[in-house]
Amino acid sequence: MNKKIVAANWKMNPQTLQEAEDLFRASSGAIVFPPSEFIEALSKIDSGAVLGVQDISLDDKSLVSPGVKYVLIGHSDRRWKLGESGQIVNQKLKLALSWGLAPIVCVGEKFRDSDFKSFLENQTLDTFAGLSGGQIEKCLIAYEPVWAISATPGSRPDTPESALESIRIIKNTLIENLPKVLYGGSVTSINVRDFLAMNEIFGVLVGQASLDKEEFKKIMAIVFSLQ
Ligand code: PGA
Repeated sequence: MNKKIVAANWKMNPQTLQEAEDLFRASSGAIVFPPSEFIEALSKIDSGAVLGVQDISLDDKSLVSPGVKYVLIGHSDRRWKLGESGQIVNQKLKLALSWGLAPIVCVGEKFRDSDFKSFLENQTLDTFAGLSGGQIEKCLIAYEPVWAISATPGSRPDTPESALESIRIIKNTLIENLPKVLYGGSVTSINVRDFLAMNEIFGVLVGQASLDKEEFKKIMAIVFSLQ
């Protein structure tokens, strides 16, 4: 079985560096995306967690400090709340790869309506436009339906079966290159095992639950027990 991945998207949390250091030390084995202001300090801590940035700027590489390995590209907060276009997401993806960063590329529909399959195909095509097969293989994809993200009002987690259906749509759209796909959207210690029971779900991207140290430890323990 492939090694499963757990990534933590802290968004704008926690409030203090001390809390961030504490959480980072407890996240050994995970990929952690802290707010940018904590990156420098966290990069000096040997916690066994791997650091990523939540975004890159199209014109300033200096914001990515040397300890950073991963980058989140196309998170729904950027696509929907900040209006980042598919074209910008695609440019950032190409730039991140040229800087040697490992992208976790987020795709996902905003609504589960009758058009969501073609929406997903088009978003996937726009996001990866112009990338070679070799470049796509360097990416992880996170399938994150916006309606399933805990911060979305009225959200509920997707089911493993329906997430798998969407993941197959994404993979079929990029058929030549078989990307590795994670699931994200209200993942908790209660449901993580069910998502990862699906062979084609390669790991999870966790938001809210990654900020609760004990809860995240439980999630990591489950993920790593499946390796
Ligand atoms: P959530 O966030 O786990 O709180 O739903 C996931 C994300 O936004 O990446």
